[in-house]
Amino acid sequence: MPVIAFVNPKGGAGKSTSAVVLATELAIKGAGVVMLDADPNRAITQWSKLAGCPPSISVVSTVSEATIIDEIDRASASQPFVVVDLEGTASMTVAYAISRSDLVIIPIQGSQLDAKEGAKAITLIRQQERAFGKTIPFSVLFTRTSSAIIPRTLRHIQEQFINNAVSSFKTQLHEREAYRALFSFGGTLESLNSKEVSGLTKAIENARAFTAEVIGHLRECSEIQSQRKAKSAEVVYK
Ligand SMILES: Nc1ncnc2c1ncn2[C@@H]1O[C@H](COP(=O)(O)OP(=O)(O)OP(=O)(O)O)[C@@H](O)[C@H]1O
Ligand SMILES: [Mg+2]
Repeated sequence: MPVIAFVNPKGGAGKSTSAVVLATELAIKGAGVVMLDADPNRAITQWSKLAGCPPSISVVSTVSEATIIDEIDRASASQPFVVVDLEGTASMTVAYAISRSDLVIIPIQGSQLDAKEGAKAITLIRQQERAFGKTIPFSVLFTRTSSAIIPRTLRHIQEQFINNAVSSFKTQLHEREAYRALFSFGGTLESLNSKEVSGLTKAIENARAFTAEVIGHLRECSEIQSQRKAKSAEVVYK
């Protein structure tokens, strides 16, 4: 079952936040999700210990370089979705997770420095593709962007990615208090109190659009893979 890893060697890019947003929205849609917390800071584990973690999400908190491949394989055999949160560095753990992923999401904030760190994540993915002789789908997710304006810097970065044939999500995870609140109050966006957290409805809409795009992406990737397999079978059985 699909393994989705959040990767960016830059700390604070929005990996853990986007991972929780995706996992909780998938859970609300009724899917079982395993979250692998592969960051020694254990942000996901801390979130899961707060009230309101959906019962269909299980969190594995003991993931390390030595165990990550086994944990990913075990999780993907048991639940429809596996979401892997990684540390903000380029380690062997990150490389192993990339090699086992059906989709790598690279959260980046809209500055040139962040784009440079995002490019390092892409280099790491391409190294793993070469090492394992397979395509590893990935897409950039712009995080903490303004819902009101697209600054010139962000537009410039988007153009750079397009020119380099780097795919990015149409949906951006905007800067919203609600996403921060998940780590204070726990649970899901839907379980937060709109009297305590501003802009909740917009945050939920934004999270749902992101989740729908991830699912669309995974579908596309699996169709492309099936077509590739059918083509190789044609070659073999000709
Ligand atoms: N869309 C968002 N809206 C508002 N705040 C956000 C958003 N995304 C992330 N943040 C905030 O930015 C900070 C960094 O986010 P987060 O912890 O998700 O990044 P990270 O990539 O997991 O960092 P690390 O590499 O240290 O694990 C946190 O304080 C988080 O609350
Ligand atoms: Mg994190």
